[in-house]
Amino acid sequence: MLKDTLEQGRIVTDEALERLLPAANQYPSSIHRAMRHSVFAGGKRLRPVLCMEAALMIEGCVPDGVEELGAALEMLHTYSLIHDDLPALDNDDLRRGLPTCHKAFGEATAILAGDALQTYAYEVLAKLQCSAEARVAIIGEIAHATGTIGGMIGGQVMDLEAEHTKADAQTLEYIHRSKTGALLTASVVIGGMYAEASDSQIASLREFGQNIGLAFQIVDDVLDVTQTSEQLGKTAGKDKATEKATYPALFGVDASIKMADELVAKADAALTSFGEAAATLRELAQFLVERKK
Ligand code: IPE
Ligand code: IPE
Ligand code: MG
Ligand code: MG
Ligand code: MG
Repeated sequence: MLKDTLEQGRIVTDEALERLLPAANQYPSSIHRAMRHSVFAGGKRLRPVLCMEAALMIEGCVPDGVEELGAALEMLHTYSLIHDDLPALDNDDLRRGLPTCHKAFGEATAILAGDALQTYAYEVLAKLQCSAEARVAIIGEIAHATGTIGGMIGGQVMDLEAEHTKADAQTLEYIHRSKTGALLTASVVIGGMYAEASDSQIASLREFGQNIGLAFQIVDDVLDVTQTSEQLGKTAGKDKATEKATYPALFGVDASIKMADELVAKADAALTSFGEAAATLRELAQFLVERKK
């Protein structure tokens, strides 16, 4: 069942993170407490789950050590959230149901905690238990996906510049594919790389990831409109207040949901060549658009 997949994925990811991150009392402790505050605040761990499921699908069993790859993804994702919440970016007080990192530890420590999670992620990646060739490919893939050209930082820059501008559909799609879609796509692709997927398998995983990645951020926009802060664990209604470029703002909630559904259908189609082995990835794609937080 998908519920068990998500729960198990969360548990193994949390165990790996616990093992790989410095202890809270490790000197200099303020930074380690701040990193742990945000990492263990209760994320869904969707990127690690997608990564591990892609690896499982390719290899036929869960490859040894793949949870460390998942943990590195979650470190990078959490770094992006800490920085996204900073006063200079989205200026948010609430994240994963807790005060944001800068609210709890101050802005300087939060900036450094984000930086530190990023460098830790690469330390973990450098020691992955896969072939050296796969390791290098994985590191290159993630660095690009979090970078400025079609990657997470590029998307974040455009997201900020598009505030109050009534961005057109093309700019909006660029923002969403980059700020969120790129890391989700990489999560699936590197799961495949870890399991030594062929080039054509990687291409199918990439197409799947690109479609669910955009769908995921469309749904994030929809939830900002339709859910409460309590349900989300982050401030609801924030996008409208700051006139963010979002799908509901440009197309309305119903049309946005329809677009997300269509993207999931495309994602589904991208997995055709894997047959029944892709059942869990398909279920995960469906979950991404049906989620309530
Ligand atoms: C939130 O991501 C930020 C976006 C990229 C939209 P998630 O919805 O995966 O957040 P967590 O990890 O569960 O807190
Ligand atoms: C965040 O997008 C994307 C990244 C963190 C890279 P949002 O700004 O919409 O995410 P939330 O809604 O604050 O989680
Ligand atoms: Mg943002
Ligand atoms: Mg935000
Ligand atoms: Mg959002």
